[in-house]
Amino acid sequence: MINAMSLQSGESVLDCTMGLGTDAIVASFISGVNGRVTGLESSVLISTLVRYGVSTYPETEEDVALSMRRIEVVNVDHKEYLASLSPCSYDVIYFDPMFRNPGYYSPAINAMRFLANPKPVDLQTIDLALRVAAKKVVMKERRGNTEFKRLGFRTVLGGKYAPVVYGVIDLQGAK
Ligand SMILES: C[S@@+](CC[C@H](N)C(=O)[O-])C[C@H]1O[C@@H](n2cnc3c(N)ncnc32)[C@H](O)[C@@H]1O
Repeated sequence: MINAMSLQSGESVLDCTMGLGTDAIVASFISGVNGRVTGLESSVLISTLVRYGVSTYPETEEDVALSMRRIEVVNVDHKEYLASLSPCSYDVIYFDPMFRNPGYYSPAINAMRFLANPKPVDLQTIDLALRVAAKKVVMKERRGNTEFKRLGFRTVLGGKYAPVVYGVIDLQGAK
């Protein structure tokens, strides 16, 4: 994920599908004290749970604990939020929607599957993300899915045998 984002210390990430926050915490760890990570989650229950989690989880590794504490959690639909932002507000816009064909079951996601928003990302949302991102729009999906093609992600990165891969739209040089 970090390679797909080309994420550097000091950069900003808008995680449009925060879920339980694993990816947002990794992004926050890499972007560091001078970076910024905002996590959007449309489910009231999941966003309440994850906001409480990132602000209180008794993590003993101080760097990881501070990475959690820095994340801002917003309970909102990502389309509405993206529409409210100015152009180039974040370096990276990230999507990890519920998989269209969930053949890969993560125990953490399974526990909250019935609460999660199952809607696919639509093209209008990707257009909004392309306006708000300064550097890249990145989406996680199962290998072999048709979502990347539908949404215009032409570059797909990931390990040869990895069950999940990352679609990338690179805006550097385009803005
Ligand atoms: C697969 S999970 C994300 C897992 C997350 N990347 C992690 O590391 O834990 C997808 C999450 O995105 C949320 N979601 C789906 N559509 C959304 C939308 N339009 N706006 C905000 N959140 C959304 C779902 O409710 C779900 O919690």
